[in-house]
Amino acid sequence: MSEIAKLELEGTIYEFPIIEGTENEKAIDISKLRDTTGYVTLDTGYKNTGATKSAITFLDGEKGILHYRGYSIEQLAENATFIEVAYLLIYGSLPTQLQLDTFTNNITKHTLVHEDMKQFFEAYPAKAHPMGVLASMTCSLSTFYPESLDPNRSPEAKDLTMLRLLAKLPTLAAWSYKNAMRHPFMYPKNKYDYCSNFLHMMFAMPTEEYKVNPVVVKALNKLLILHADHEQNCSTSTVRIVGSSQANLYACISAGISALWGPLHGGANQAVIEMLEQIHNDGGDVDKWVLKAKDKEDSFRLMGFGHRVYKNFDPRATIIKKACDDVLEQLGINDPMLEIAKKLEKVALEDEYFKSRNLYPNVDFYSGIIYRALGIPTEMFTVMFAIGRLPGWIAQWKEMTENNEPIGRPRQIYTGATPREYVDIAKR
Ligand code: ACO
Repeated sequence: MSEIAKLELEGTIYEFPIIEGTENEKAIDISKLRDTTGYVTLDTGYKNTGATKSAITFLDGEKGILHYRGYSIEQLAENATFIEVAYLLIYGSLPTQLQLDTFTNNITKHTLVHEDMKQFFEAYPAKAHPMGVLASMTCSLSTFYPESLDPNRSPEAKDLTMLRLLAKLPTLAAWSYKNAMRHPFMYPKNKYDYCSNFLHMMFAMPTEEYKVNPVVVKALNKLLILHADHEQNCSTSTVRIVGSSQANLYACISAGISALWGPLHGGANQAVIEMLEQIHNDGGDVDKWVLKAKDKEDSFRLMGFGHRVYKNFDPRATIIKKACDDVLEQLGINDPMLEIAKKLEKVALEDEYFKSRNLYPNVDFYSGIIYRALGIPTEMFTVMFAIGRLPGWIAQWKEMTENNEPIGRPRQIYTGATPREYVDIAKR
C-alpha cells in the first residue's frame, strides 16, 4: 500500500508510511518520528499505540470479533480442546492427530514439579493469595532449569521450556490451593487429560477415589479456550516487554501472572463475585449499585463491565453467559448470584450512562459464576485465568523473540523540576 500520512510541525511537512494488516487495520508507522522531527508521541495507557505486528490473534472491538490464527472463538470454543488451541496459538496451525498426540504426551511427561519445590509451598502462610504463590513459584522454576537463562539456546531447548510451563502451571496452581487448605498435595496422574488432571490435583484426596465429572471438564475446557489469548492486553504486553530484555521465559510468565492479578485485568473475575455477594448481602437492590457505579464521587465501578477494546459486546461474554446457564442447569445448581448478575446486566444495558460509554459485560462478568459452580474457590479465579492465558503468553513471547524485536523502552515527557542547586540539609 502506498498511502502516506503527512504531519506538519513548525512549518515543515513530514511524511510517514501507512501500513495495513491482513484484516485491513491501518497504522501510521512512526518508527522514524523522533529521528526525523525530534518529537515523540504521548499516549498514556497506549490507547492508540500499536506496539508490534502480530500474526496470532485478531480482534475487532467494534464488531465483537475474536480470532485465534484466523479461527473464530465461537468455533474453537465449540469444537476444540484447550491443548489443541494451545498448539494452534504457539505453532500457528491446528495440529494433525500425530502432532497433537506428541504435544499432549510431551506435556503429560513434565507435569511433576521438583520435590524441593514442596518446601517452598510450605513456607507460605495459609492465607497467602494463590496468585502471589503462583507468580513466585513460576519464577522459581527458572532456578531448577538454569539452562533456560540462555537466550541463545536452540529452538528445541526453548520448546522444552514452553512444554514445562504448560505442564507445570496447573500443578503449581492446584498445589497453591491445597497448601492454603493445608490438605495433602495430589500428584498429577498421566491417565488424565489436561483439564481432568487439574481437577484431580485440586479436588482429589489420597483417601478416596476421585471421579472426574465430564460436565465440569467440558466447561473448564471452554473457559480456558476463551481466555487463551487476547492480543496486546496488559499482561501480554508485560510478558513481551520483560521478554524483550531477554529475561528467561519463566520470569516473563511470572511477570504476566503479576500483571494479570490486578482487578482492572484478570483480577476482575474475583472482584465480580465479591461485588455480586456484596449486592446480595445488601438486599439485592441492583438499582442502588448501578447508581453508585455512575456516581463520579464514588470509587465503585461495576466490575466485569467495560473493556478497553470491545465497544459493542465481548464475544467471549456471549459464549460464557450461555455456558453459565448450561452448567448450572446440568449440575442442578441454583445460584442467586446468577440472578443478580442478569438483573444487573439488564439494568446497566438499558441505562444511558452505560450505553453512551459503550460499557458491556466482559469475559469476566459470568466466568466467576461458572467457576463457583465447578467448585473453584473465589481466590482461585484469577489463577484459572492464568492457566488459560498461558499458551497466549508463550505464543506472543515466541513470536517476539523470533522476530528479534528490540528491547521495549518507551519515552516520556518530563514534567519535573528544571535544574537547581543542591541545598545542604541544614539549610532546607
Ligand atoms: N463501571 C462504571 N463506569 C465505568 C466502568 C465500570 N465498570 N468502566 C468504565 N467506566 C466509565 C469511566 O468512569 C469513564 O467515564 P467518563 O468518560 O465519564 O470519565 C468511561 O467509562 C471510560 O472508562 P475508562 O476507564 O477511561 O476506560 P478504559 O478503557 O481505560 O478502561 C476498563 C477499561 C479498565 C476495563 C474499565 O472499563 C474498568 O475498570 N472495568 C471494570 C474492571 C473490569 O471488569 N476489568 C476486566 C477487563 S476484561 C479483562 O481484563 C480480562
